Amino acid sequence: MENNRTKWYKEAIIYQIYPYSFMDSNGDGIGDIKGIMSKLDYLENLGITAIWFSPLYPSPDKDYGYDISDYKNIAPHFGTLEEFKTLLDECHKRGIKVIMDSVMNHTSSEHAWFKDVINNPSSKYRDYYIIRKGIKNGKKLLPPNNWTSVFTGSAWEKLPSSDDEFYLHLFTKEQPDLNWDNPKVREEMVDIFNFWFDMGVDGFRMDVFNVFSKVDGLPSDNALKMSRGSKYYIDGPHEHEYLHELYEKSFKKYDSLLVGESFGPHPEDKIRYASEASEEIDMLFDFAHLKSDNRNNYFKKKFDILEFKKGLATPQINLYGKGWNSLVLENHDTPRSISRFDFNSTEYHYEVSTMLPLITFFGFGTPFIFEGEEIGMTNCLFTSIDECMDPVTHFIHTIMKKLPMTEFQRMKMISFGCRDNARTPMQWDDTLNAGFTKGKPWEKVNPNYKEINVKNDLASVRSIYHFYQSVIFLKKSNKTLIYGDFHELSKNSKEVFSYLRSLEGNTLFIIANFTDETVEYKLPKEIEGKTLTSLLSNYNDTELKDGIIVLNPYQATCYEIKEENDR
Ligand code: GLC
Ligand code: CA
Repeated sequence: MENNRTKWYKEAIIYQIYPYSFMDSNGDGIGDIKGIMSKLDYLENLGITAIWFSPLYPSPDKDYGYDISDYKNIAPHFGTLEEFKTLLDECHKRGIKVIMDSVMNHTSSEHAWFKDVINNPSSKYRDYYIIRKGIKNGKKLLPPNNWTSVFTGSAWEKLPSSDDEFYLHLFTKEQPDLNWDNPKVREEMVDIFNFWFDMGVDGFRMDVFNVFSKVDGLPSDNALKMSRGSKYYIDGPHEHEYLHELYEKSFKKYDSLLVGESFGPHPEDKIRYASEASEEIDMLFDFAHLKSDNRNNYFKKKFDILEFKKGLATPQINLYGKGWNSLVLENHDTPRSISRFDFNSTEYHYEVSTMLPLITFFGFGTPFIFEGEEIGMTNCLFTSIDECMDPVTHFIHTIMKKLPMTEFQRMKMISFGCRDNARTPMQWDDTLNAGFTKGKPWEKVNPNYKEINVKNDLASVRSIYHFYQSVIFLKKSNKTLIYGDFHELSKNSKEVFSYLRSLEGNTLFIIANFTDETVEYKLPKEIEGKTLTSLLSNYNDTELKDGIIVLNPYQATCYEIKEENDR
């Protein structure tokens, strides 16, 4: 079969839209397709070349779109399939590719397949799901094994229509896991991918893509009373085989991008998934650096810059020459980057918001920008659990209630780590609800919208959006920033992150000060005595004298290196 892939994604700049929170056109408080359409100029001007839409499909919203009840349609609160096609055309006219989200580890419990399983004991869809008999223990019926859901509690729920059966759900109980060992399930998935590809969609982000295949027999993890059990499904026994099958039957026929959202993958599997030779997916999100300031998301730890640097650097080294990498600071599941990592972003809001994209996106890989990142949107202070819409935030709050702490302390931890931070509405201007909706917003608007919003930012001489434009422009136009190799410098520095990118005799030197103090950086031997020309910096003055660069607080600069004798 013909392979139609141009690998355009290598030169792409991708912008993630979380549709609920981007722009509401009809005042129901929920973002929608028409709202997105009204902001395409804004996105085109930013310079991005692709948009990834978090799920737009019909969903009972138990996990805000990540519980899909119909894979081939658009949720009524977002619009219609016809409107989506118009959006697709409008994006394509502007040279913007469209990436959909595919959530295929599980369906919604409201999906027609699962409803049929519940209503019909001889349903042909029974084997689409993972259903097992419970274990009798005296009068009690225990779940088939001791696995816990990623979102707390048992990973098993009683099948409503049965006396003794349970179904597996790694996430909420409204997200029953699909049985990927059933070839019919895999055929359905191929059919769904092809449905959207045939419509003109350019790629997919694949939700928790590395947990589809579970170990035969679904064994209990006997070491513990209750256990995540994740060693029995992370990079499971048939995972690579199933992905390759999707590649053969779908991906390779289209000029597509497949980017996997990984769930704790093993180092060797990470490389295999994203290697071109494997013919599976094109890249994955590696979140290692986003663990450098927390334990389990909610427990703050002192920011470990060495962990951050290693997390970002490792895939750039491991994948170079083999496959492709992604570069990401935020998404709809993470807190806002500038509010993390012990940054002093109250005093240095502009500096931190511009240092981060420069140092991250000039690495080896395709940048992913999450909505609002380009204007320096921050975490939100949630003072009551009622202000949070994410079910996971509520699960965590319930667990925290068992711990000896005050409600104030609980909400402080929640405000630090919860996913709602990313989901507060996009801040367009300083009018009611940040210009996001004329109605009641589905999720709290961050009160700082009067200062931090698109309108103010665009009017400012220190516009973060304009700096993102420059970062994007340089990344797109400089082949060394796209295809060059990555060589980290000063690995043990706890103040700066610096590296070289080199391609065919051209070398760029990228450096960022991660502190709020002035740092004197002595050029390491690799670049000593070379001539450095600044291509982009978030400060006007870049001081370089006698082999020492004086970096202002949170300064980030990209230099071009010339050999002395080149001059
Ligand atoms: C992914 C999504 C997250 C969702 C989960 C279950 O991690 O990014 O939002 O809750 O998968 O689908
Ligand atoms: Ca709406």
